[in-house]
Amino acid sequence: MKLGRLNHVGVATPSIADSVAHYRAVMGATVVREAFDLPAQGVRVCFVDAPNCQIELIEPLGADSAIIGFLAKNPLGGQHHVCFEVPDIHEAKAWFEGKGVRVLGEPRIGAHGTPIFFLHPKDMGGVLTEIMESPRQAH
Ligand code: CO
Repeated sequence: MKLGRLNHVGVATPSIADSVAHYRAVMGATVVREAFDLPAQGVRVCFVDAPNCQIELIEPLGADSAIIGFLAKNPLGGQHHVCFEVPDIHEAKAWFEGKGVRVLGEPRIGAHGTPIFFLHPKDMGGVLTEIMESPRQAH
């Protein structure tokens, strides 16, 4: 496998609306996508476009959201994960398993409508890492 394109940086936030206002006012963001729910992951998501990648704002959705614990430890929110693209999600899963890196769950549909999985941060130098199959149209 070859390291692919950085697709996005995931940023947990208690409020997408407040974070969007901050990215617009302080960072000069101009392209902000429509927010949407990802019930399977227990999160609401909103992408802010930078010229070379995106910021994925993640807000808890429901009481057992996957990011409740993160926000309890980081009440202001903060950097949550990085996401790299791969051409084939199943090949990538086999690759990481072969390297002894723990894959968290089975590939599932992520925020861009393509399959994703996460890698255990303890096997990734402390960085929660999302692996995402590249959208087909983009290539
Ligand atoms: Co993500």
